Amino acid sequence: MQVFEIGVDDLSELTSFYDDTDGPSFDALSQLLQKPHTRAFRVSIHGNVVGVLWLLLSDDAVEIIDIRVAEAHRRQGIASLLLETMTHGLLTQDRTDIFLDVRENNGAAIALYERLGFSLESRRRGYYRGAQGREDALVMRKSLKPSAIDPS
Ligand SMILES: CC(C)(COP(=O)(O)OP(=O)(O)OC[C@H]1O[C@@H](n2cnc3c(N)ncnc32)[C@H](O)[C@@H]1OP(=O)(O)O)[C@@H](O)C(=O)NCCC(=O)NCCS
Repeated sequence: MQVFEIGVDDLSELTSFYDDTDGPSFDALSQLLQKPHTRAFRVSIHGNVVGVLWLLLSDDAVEIIDIRVAEAHRRQGIASLLLETMTHGLLTQDRTDIFLDVRENNGAAIALYERLGFSLESRRRGYYRGAQGREDALVMRKSLKPSAIDPS
């Protein structure tokens, strides 16, 4: 599997992928991609998009706006591949942190992020609307700075 960047001309490939998802709408994401600080990446299998990652870049940080993998292709390492490719790529040069927001009840995503080295930074109380009322957003962060090595 390989990760490819999505350009504005490729957006039509993603419409069926975003058919019935929660999270940011495809329209909102597509509009963001018109702006220079937004980047999007995909993994495809047999010509079908099975995973996507959307990022917002600032001078010193990367923010994950959305990551999702088609249900039939989950637990095959696709989200990990997208995130690790991004983390080890040029996008993170000179940037110190990756941030993201995740619903407190999204156990799958939290397990993924923790496994990849993200940790809880803060909490936005009642940030999301959920089936059972308001849900908190967990703000998670991964440092891109090499960890200090103890010289002793
Ligand atoms: C969260 C999501 C992106 C994970 O994608 P994925 O391709 O299945 O993730 P990976 O296969 O790379 O998983 C890597 C590790 O994360 C953890 N993980 C992923 N899904 C998990 C789940 N459902 N339950 C528990 N742990 C999970 C596991 O440690 C997993 O490793 P393992 O399969 O060897 O145990 C996917 O479930 C998804 O698209 N969910 C809906 C959209 C969403 O919630 N996006 C996040 C928005 S913040």
